[in-house]
Amino acid sequence: MARLSVNIDHIATLRQARLGKEPDPVAAASIAELAGADGITIHLREDRRHIQDRDVRILRETVKTKLNLEMAATDEMVNIALEIKPDMVTLVPEKRAELTTEGGLDVVLNRENLSRQVELLKNSGISVSLFINPDLDQVKTSHRIEADYVEIHTGRFADAINKKDADDEFERILDAVKAAGKLRLGINAGHGLNYINIKKIMKISEIEEFSIGHSIIARAVLVGLERAVREMVDLVKVNQAVLKQPL
Ligand code: PXP
Repeated sequence: MARLSVNIDHIATLRQARLGKEPDPVAAASIAELAGADGITIHLREDRRHIQDRDVRILRETVKTKLNLEMAATDEMVNIALEIKPDMVTLVPEKRAELTTEGGLDVVLNRENLSRQVELLKNSGISVSLFINPDLDQVKTSHRIEADYVEIHTGRFADAINKKDADDEFERILDAVKAAGKLRLGINAGHGLNYINIKKIMKISEIEEFSIGHSIIARAVLVGLERAVREMVDLVKVNQAVLKQPL
């Protein structure tokens, strides 16, 4: 059965809007776990626009499920991860001007640097996931540099403006997942997933973990965090019999 890791960055976004103390992502993480989340994801950005170093340190102490730290593949971030020791690191590309992570890592182009960082992190007992576009060369190179997981970028599928584009993107994701499965890579997925499009992507039963943030926090503002997480948990842990329906 698939797992849900709740990305709580936007709780911190709200706090940083006033540079104050509320809402506290540490409290949000506890509520998400009580509501059935299997993990907590945070992205420590180089510009510290939402999650702060203090959050990472405290969450390492308080998260009882699995802490996934998203971060840029830089020496500064790798050193922080080596000190904090999250359960998993997801390496992502990062541009200061972007609203959110825009594309996957180019593992092929940055193979040497990523390979060194994957090795450093793995040697200290942290599992490493690479956030990549659904592209076979990216999957193969992620395997060659011995990543534990790939996180397949679902953003283009989520943002597709018509059924044909969505179906094409879905096929790309499916092909990437199959290739990653053959190479025995662990498979996560995320970006832009919501309470509607998760129903289709869930049919790819090889996906082990979904990382979902914005849609859950957006719903939480209206219905409460506990309920918003629980509703997504119910969708992600949908009965396997439902998944047997044709793709
Ligand atoms: N996975 C990665 C690697 C991300 O960078 C993000 C956004 O922080 C997510 C998943 C979650 O995306 P969303 O907030 O659109 O659910």
